[in-house]
Amino acid sequence: MSILFVGSELFPYVKTGGLGDVMAALPRAIRALGADVRLLVPAFPSIRSGVDVLGEAAVLPELMGGGPARILRANAPELPLYLLDQPAFFDRPGGPYGHPGDLARRFAALAWAAAHLGRMGDADGWRPDVLHGHDWQTGLMPAYVAYGDGPRPATVMTIHNIAFQGRFPPSMLSELWLPRHALTPEGVEFHGDICFLKAGLKLADRLTTVSPTYAREIQQAGGHGLEGLLTHRNDSLRGIINGVDRDIWNPAKDPNLVSRYDLKHPARRMPNRPDFQRRMGLHEDPEAPIFAAVSRLDPLKGLDLVLDNVDHLVSKGAQLAVLGTGDPHAEGAFRQAAQRHPGRVGVFLRYDEAMAHHAFAAADVFLVPSRQEPCGLTQLYAQAYGALPLVRRTGGLADTVVGASPETLADGTATGFMFDTASGWALGEAINMALALFQDPSAWRQVQRRGMLTEFGWEGPARAYLDLYATIPAKGV
Ligand code: ADP
Ligand code: GLC
Repeated sequence: MSILFVGSELFPYVKTGGLGDVMAALPRAIRALGADVRLLVPAFPSIRSGVDVLGEAAVLPELMGGGPARILRANAPELPLYLLDQPAFFDRPGGPYGHPGDLARRFAALAWAAAHLGRMGDADGWRPDVLHGHDWQTGLMPAYVAYGDGPRPATVMTIHNIAFQGRFPPSMLSELWLPRHALTPEGVEFHGDICFLKAGLKLADRLTTVSPTYAREIQQAGGHGLEGLLTHRNDSLRGIINGVDRDIWNPAKDPNLVSRYDLKHPARRMPNRPDFQRRMGLHEDPEAPIFAAVSRLDPLKGLDLVLDNVDHLVSKGAQLAVLGTGDPHAEGAFRQAAQRHPGRVGVFLRYDEAMAHHAFAAADVFLVPSRQEPCGLTQLYAQAYGALPLVRRTGGLADTVVGASPETLADGTATGFMFDTASGWALGEAINMALALFQDPSAWRQVQRRGMLTEFGWEGPARAYLDLYATIPAKGV
């Protein structure tokens, strides 16, 4: 079976969140099971300079009003790539989602190029059986397949975050190379707009999202307006949990750490603490429990609940370390918290991959208080690194953490802490529970051990995707 993944991020070249991690790890995991997966991404400068470009796969004289484009063949380690090389759209600074003026045409171009490869194949005659798009940036791909001529590959859309939908004015229809009849509820129209994600969810053969619980939530109150459509398509929707790439997120061989460790050598985790405290401007206090968060600062991530608990944490003798960027208001509030509690609260308001690794290896408690969390990867990385996740019961967090309770502590299944209501008070209660368990080192170690033993590998999810592809009946021309 041949599959073309399509998306806007690819670790380590372009990453703003978990999508980048998944786009790097999942296709490789499916390849390891024998399927021919390749990946189409925009030729952003950081990707282009990081991979080996092999030659031209297709030439497109003009694409989406952005001038001439080419699809290049390239190779990343263990992953064949296609790069959409269209200088006007992609060869410039500003990150994948900068330049809002041409956001719609830019990602329509990516979706169109994917549909083109799906229909026509590349210069060597390779043509995918399945086009698999990720998030709103690729939502028009099933539309271009549905409205175009020629062979029709199967289409799959994965929702990594339903809050981002790609909505644009209906006047852009022809600019986006969509036929007039596409602007209906059966096509790309959503409340009068063109909605990229809605188009994909309406027109793709199969839909997935990144956890079973989120698959249920988006058919109910968590659907950001798309719940009706998703309920209607319930039979075609699957929730498949993400995994951890053990080549990257593994404390036994992580080159970022000052001291590598594993379950057999837990004491070797300790030197990472003072190192991280120094990096974050925290006192090198060997006793203080370190609470950490590594996150986009977005309202859905619930970091405001952490802000509500800063004084509480400090009054209990804990330290707080926050690595995050995003909402300027939240950044300002964390900066102030650090000024208020020098040495007890440390903030790093940047995106820094190495610092994230340091945080997982040093934290005692890893905070993920999200209001919504489709899957979440940081609570998985935390478990792999022996930091106990403290999460809200939502989406993939509910599916991947077993909250400590008298029962789960007694039967040894607990892997972290969980709270229900999205309030500062409820988070505070969970923090108290974590602080209480911290006083009992042997109970703490048992929870830590259980988390480190949990596999969260990519092989199971990769099989689930292959099974899903196999359920799509072949289509004619
Ligand atoms: P989301 O994709 O919604 O941001 P995930 O938990 O799936 O959430 O993935 C977040 C990814 O981004 C993780 O790999 C995490 O380590 C990383 N990350 C988030 N913020 C930062 C930051 N400021 N610096 C470094 N890595 C970050
Ligand atoms: C999104 C979600 C996150 C998920 C990631 C990868 O960014 O917000 O929960 O882990 O995609 O699927």
